[in-house]
Amino acid sequence: MVNRSKYPRHVAVIMDGNGRWAQKRGLHRIQGHRAGVAALKEIVKHSRKIGLEYLTLYAFSTENWKRPEMEIKNLMNLLMEYLKSELEELKTNNIKLRILGDISALRKDVQEELEKAVAQTRENDGMVLSVAINYGGRDEILRAVRGIVKDVCEGKARVQDIDQEFFENYLYTSGMPNPDLVIRPSGELRVSNFLLWQIAYSELWFSDCFWPDFTADMFEKALDDYAKRDRRYGGVNSVD
Ligand code: IPE
Ligand code: IPE
Ligand code: MG
Repeated sequence: MVNRSKYPRHVAVIMDGNGRWAQKRGLHRIQGHRAGVAALKEIVKHSRKIGLEYLTLYAFSTENWKRPEMEIKNLMNLLMEYLKSELEELKTNNIKLRILGDISALRKDVQEELEKAVAQTRENDGMVLSVAINYGGRDEILRAVRGIVKDVCEGKARVQDIDQEFFENYLYTSGMPNPDLVIRPSGELRVSNFLLWQIAYSELWFSDCFWPDFTADMFEKALDDYAKRDRRYGGVNSVD
């Protein structure tokens, strides 16, 4: 029996493998993305059910603009569809939506739908669902550096104030705890520019399963494995 008190507060997921899932079935990549949204909905529902505080999902990276225009368009349309169909569900389940990433580069209608969903769930305090869109860890760090330099130049901050806590205020994740656990399905063993600052001491959990096949049971397995790990943060936990 796993001790639930050792469960993570914040789980971050790199939702990968939609394309290969589709390819394996002779389907178009977009059908893989659509199936990926179904998996996403199940994981959001399950996370809420078990009382997770923070769930963060990587949906579109700053590098994903390299993909064919059609695929990007399809992904944005899927995002619109998701927001429109799930907003009521988010509200009913007391979920607060946060966006990580520079959405100013997205289509105007997508930006508006995202802003609407964020505004309408702002007061919710059941679970924070963060979706990383046009997100890149390096991009986020540079953005923070620019913000800090600007504030120093304008006399709003002093160089000697810049410690880790201060720096974190300039990240998209400001105010959130760092992820305890990062889950990456699809068989790739890399972080692909996801939350580079924040995952310094996160536990990593990989699976060969493509994201559309990812289930609540697998999520539970990841949480159980996490609960058995010994996080040392560079120190020693042993009592002898
Ligand atoms: C993840 O699935 C979804 C996004 C990056 C938007 P992929 O589309 O990367 O699927 P694979 O890795 O090609 O299988
Ligand atoms: C990471 O997946 C980004 C998202 C899941 C949104 P990618 O498919 O873009 O990553 P690479 O290219 O395999 O590193
Ligand atoms: Mg991929």
